[in-house]
Amino acid sequence: MKVTVLGAAGGIGQPLSLLLKLSSQIDELSLYDIRLSKGVATDLSHINTNVKVTGFEPSSKEDQSAIKQALTGTDVVIIPAGVPRKPGMTRDDLFNINASIIQSLASAIAETAPQAYVLVISNPVNSTVPIVVETFKQKGVFNPKRIFGVTTLDIVRANSFIKEYDTHGELDVSKVNINVIGGHSGETIVPIYSQSNASKIYKKLSSSQRDALVNRVQFGGDEVVKAKNGGGSATLSMAYSGYKFAESLIRALKGESGIIEDSFIYLDDGIKGAREVKNKTKLNYVSLPIRLGPHGVEEVEGGILGELDDNETKLFGVAVNTLSKNIVKGELFVNKVKSKL
Ligand code: NAD
Ligand code: LMR
Repeated sequence: MKVTVLGAAGGIGQPLSLLLKLSSQIDELSLYDIRLSKGVATDLSHINTNVKVTGFEPSSKEDQSAIKQALTGTDVVIIPAGVPRKPGMTRDDLFNINASIIQSLASAIAETAPQAYVLVISNPVNSTVPIVVETFKQKGVFNPKRIFGVTTLDIVRANSFIKEYDTHGELDVSKVNINVIGGHSGETIVPIYSQSNASKIYKKLSSSQRDALVNRVQFGGDEVVKAKNGGGSATLSMAYSGYKFAESLIRALKGESGIIEDSFIYLDDGIKGAREVKNKTKLNYVSLPIRLGPHGVEEVEGGILGELDDNETKLFGVAVNTLSKNIVKGELFVNKVKSKL
């Protein structure tokens, strides 16, 4: 099992690579960045685990050989390359810089490792995933079961933040499992506490407590951006989340059954359950619980959409509206139609 990290020397890339170096599921780790990745790889290679680590850096802006080597024979590619937010910025403000970075990395993957599973971390996820998909379509190698927007940090936050309301100390926070659906930015993030193993606590909350909890999950990223005060956005919790998603996917690829993770994916008619979700939401992409299997996405578990409480239904409606604009923006970027969205 070979995993390649693109953007491996960054705030997320380094701790993510460390976690992957510790994984017993992986044989080879390939680290690519436009700077410092050889140093990060050398550093990690001193850790005595069985994962072989190699670093690759281009010698100039035009040099494509390093990324080609990094991607050759890879099974899974994780992308945390791109710029993070500073206080006062939205994720959408990153689009102008990150869209071209993601498009060029997606082109390289489509050319060198078209069969790879691609995990997109770079923001704005609601638009960067459509950029990867459209690039793969243009290159004739698109497989909807293999491209994932990583929204796991929203789940990790939702799982953590409910603990504050556990006044009787009955919750083991490491076992909480909240689905978070929609997308990955502000109002498109919709935690579904009503249908979770923490619903007992959630149902006892007042409506203002529920609003505060949901708001904290939706704007958890801003909380970190503000606390880092110009030093970037979430890196360590994101590295953990990216690692968690990658491990789940790899275990499913190796044949383990019953693995479900939430992820932002393209709703292709060939995926079990996708058509129903598309009809219901009118979206081409959404984050929902996904059953993973040996070929990637096996099924979209859209049943959750029929189980939302009134407030979650309202929030999901708002999410759908913003999501559709974010998605079109990514699609138009690749197809070079000027977007006014
Ligand atoms: P960072 O600036 O610390 O690191 C980004 C790295 O990408 C740098 O090392 C940079 O050299 C590298 N890079 C830039 N262009 C590249 C290219 N063309 N090829 C290869 N590498 C390239 O940023 P970070 O804090 O690691 O965040 C990275 C991205 O992840 C941001 O867009 C951020 O918004 C996003 N993010 C997403 C989530 C999520 O939940 N999906 C969470 C946190 C951050
Ligand atoms: C997050 O949710 O922490 C990331 O998307 C980074 C950000 O910009 O908030």
